[in-house]
Amino acid sequence: MLSILEKISQDEIANQNDSAQIKLLLESIIENPSIHALFLNTISLMEHLGSRKILLTQSNDHTTEFILKHASEEARHALFFKKKIDCILPNLNLGYSPHELLAGLSAKIYFQKLDATVRKSIRSMNLSNSNRSYLNYLYTTTVIEIRATNLYKIYNHLLIQRNFGFHLNGLLAEEEGHLAEMEAEIERLDSESKVRLDQLLKQEEKFFRKLWQKWKDACVLVSKP
Ligand SMILES: [Fe+2]
Ligand SMILES: [Fe+2]
Repeated sequence: MLSILEKISQDEIANQNDSAQIKLLLESIIENPSIHALFLNTISLMEHLGSRKILLTQSNDHTTEFILKHASEEARHALFFKKKIDCILPNLNLGYSPHELLAGLSAKIYFQKLDATVRKSIRSMNLSNSNRSYLNYLYTTTVIEIRATNLYKIYNHLLIQRNFGFHLNGLLAEEEGHLAEMEAEIERLDSESKVRLDQLLKQEEKFFRKLWQKWKDACVLVSKP
C-alpha cells in the first residue's frame, strides 16, 4: 500500500495534464498583482478555516499536542499568506469580505461540501461521538491538504522562478508533516481507510474543479477595466 505522500507524487505524474492546467491558471493569477493579492488572501482564508475547524471541533478531553500543533500551524499559515500580500501590493490591509477574495464564497462551499461528504461517508461506522468528530477532522483535512500540497508545489515553483521574494518551502514541509501524522491516525481508526480515502479524493476532485472554474471566472472579472 502506498503512503499518502507516495500517492501524491504518483498522482502528480499521472495527472500531468491537470498540473499543466493548474500552472496556467496560477501563471495568469500571478501576472496581475490585484488578482495575485486576492488569491493570497483566499488561501489565507482557507488556512484560517482549517485552523478554526480544528479548534472548534477538537477542543475536548482528548486534545493532544498534535491537535494544538496542527491548529497553530494552520493559523500561522493563514497569517503567512496574509502577510505576503504586502510583497505584491503593500498596505492593502485586507479582511475576508467577499470583494477582498477570489471567488471566496466558492472557496467556503468547497470546504463545506467536503465536510458534508466525509460526514456521510463515516455515518455508518460504529464510533463514539468524539472519535467520529476526530475522524471527520482527519479525513476532511487530509483530503484538503493533499490538494493544497499539490497546488502549493506548483505555486512555489513559480514564486521562486519569478523572484517574488518569498517561497513556500517551510510551509510545504509542515503540510507534509501533518499528512504523515494524520495518515497514521486514520489507519488506526478505520480499517477501510485506503478505499474510503480513494473515494473521498474522487469527490474532492469534482469540488476542486468547480472552485478552479470559479477562480478562472473571477480572474476574468477582476482583470476587466
Ligand atoms: Fe496549512
Ligand atoms: Fe496542514
